[in-house]
Amino acid sequence: MNLVESLSPESQRLLAVWNALAPPIRPSPREIELYARCWTGGAGAQVLVQGMTSELVDLAIRQGASRVSGMDWREAMFPAMRCLGKEDWSQVENIVCDWRTFNPQLEGALDLVLGDGSLTMIAFPEDWERALQILQRYIVPGGRAVLRLAFQLEEDFDFGSYLGKTLAHFDRECAKATPVQRAGLLRGLIAEIRLAIGLGSAGQTGAVDLGRRADLTRLSCTELTARYSHWTEWETLQVALPSEENARKGIRTGKGVPRWEAARQLLEACGFRVRHVEWTGTRPAPGAMRLFAAERE
Ligand SMILES: C[S@@+](CC[C@H](N)C(=O)[O-])C[C@H]1O[C@@H](n2cnc3c(N)ncnc32)[C@H](O)[C@@H]1O
Repeated sequence: MNLVESLSPESQRLLAVWNALAPPIRPSPREIELYARCWTGGAGAQVLVQGMTSELVDLAIRQGASRVSGMDWREAMFPAMRCLGKEDWSQVENIVCDWRTFNPQLEGALDLVLGDGSLTMIAFPEDWERALQILQRYIVPGGRAVLRLAFQLEEDFDFGSYLGKTLAHFDRECAKATPVQRAGLLRGLIAEIRLAIGLGSAGQTGAVDLGRRADLTRLSCTELTARYSHWTEWETLQVALPSEENARKGIRTGKGVPRWEAARQLLEACGFRVRHVEWTGTRPAPGAMRLFAAERE
């Protein structure tokens, strides 16, 4: 039996989903380089990855961290992401825990916390505040949280016109693409639309309106299915489509997409000083994803 066959059905499902996703929902090699530049604690750093993003666990191993832990409340995530990892995960610690629950074993124990889309999954501002207060207790003074998260754009975001323009552009690109390139483009399109749905359903306060999220999810999935479900790639990639039902129930769905300024104020109130912030990528729009390094005071 190979490694994938030995996974539980839930881990196999998670692996299929993450295999079908691409940047911008997964970090690109350039973004991983940005995380590396924000590294603190040197070789030997004690690192926690919020969620089990395989690219971040791999980065921590490559940087020579003395302790690498991943924290995810879903037990099935660790074995699934381990299959995506390129490094040796035998020493990686799997901490099954909600980011909003204090874990006494980590108090004052970390130099660095890395996260990709992590806080995006919990409500802004109340759950972010709770999670940041907890991180403040885990990280040593001078240590950092380096996170790449979704933020609201400076100007209004009209989801309908975004979707129309993006699909038209996609069709033009596909017309000149080889079959292999076309599969890569579709993978990127689905990942990008997932982020755009979050942007289009966030209100001024940073809270995601779950009813609106479900409506935008239905609209997107209907469009994508009508246009591309006859493609051969569809069979493996459709697993990455967001679920309208989950969005409506608030399960496995983004809940916090604040304005950057509101997030920065909350970081400061929770004992962090922002040392670096950078817009990464242009999809679904410039400024939608930002990577920042917040230093624990
Ligand atoms: C790291 S996040 C986001 C990944 C992806 N880059 C994105 O932007 O969608 C995904 C992981 O967070 C985990 N997760 C979500 N909320 C959580 C919470 N409150 N505590 C612990 N893990 C959580 C999920 O189980 C999932 O495996």
